[in-house]
Amino acid sequence: MKYILFLTLPLFLYAKTSFITQEEYAAQLYKNPRGIGCQHCHGDQGKGKIVANYTHKKIQKSFGGPAIDKLDYAAFYKALNSRIDSMPRYFLTPKEISALYFYLNQEELKKAQELKEAQEKKKAQEAEKVKKAQEAKKVSETKEVNETKEIKEVHETKEVNETQETKEVVEEPKENTKPAEAIDINALFREATEAKNAK
Ligand code: HEC
Repeated sequence: MKYILFLTLPLFLYAKTSFITQEEYAAQLYKNPRGIGCQHCHGDQGKGKIVANYTHKKIQKSFGGPAIDKLDYAAFYKALNSRIDSMPRYFLTPKEISALYFYLNQEELKKAQELKEAQEKKKAQEAEKVKKAQEAKKVSETKEVNETKEIKEVHETKEVNETQETKEVVEEPKENTKPAEAIDINALFREATEAKNAK
């Protein structure tokens, strides 16, 4: 009986975690990693916190964690994989580290995502414009050719050209047929980091 419990418990936990959103998971991990919660030293939003004030040899001192919400991903990742004075060592997986980074940089990541979407929309609109201009040019060229041909040739030719014309107009734009991709969180990290570094 005990064994069954041991076996089913991880599955149950796994099933449970898959129902929470990335935001909820990241927030939970930040406050409850395998060890003491980060917020105790770095504050709820990672903006830094003074944990204690004390005097040492008559000098007023304080202990706390620095702000960790303005780091780029590489620095954040490296810090969590090194020994840091006055901070517990966590041994987090790369996935956990990116979840924590996501938690601390949600606003920036959302902004980067919005910027990316806006840029993609603009690009698609521009491609559409170019396509329309090309189509208009093609139609008028075909028309010109048809008009000169018409003088010499019989109605048959005209009919053929008309079907060709409609084919060209109906043809789908190639760039817009790509399906919307799922959010690539690593690409977002890179963009957010590049955006930060560009500042
Ligand atoms: C007991 C307090 C404490 C806890 C808990 C703690 N930290 Fe820290 N952390 C520190 C201190 C203090 C420093 C700064 C050490 C230094 O400057 O030498 C630090 C530094 C860091 C840095 C490097 C900052 C920089 O500017 O390079 C990162 C990243 C970091 N912590 C992330 C975390 C995360 C994520 C958690 C939770 C998984 C966490 N810390 C939990 C105390 C803590």
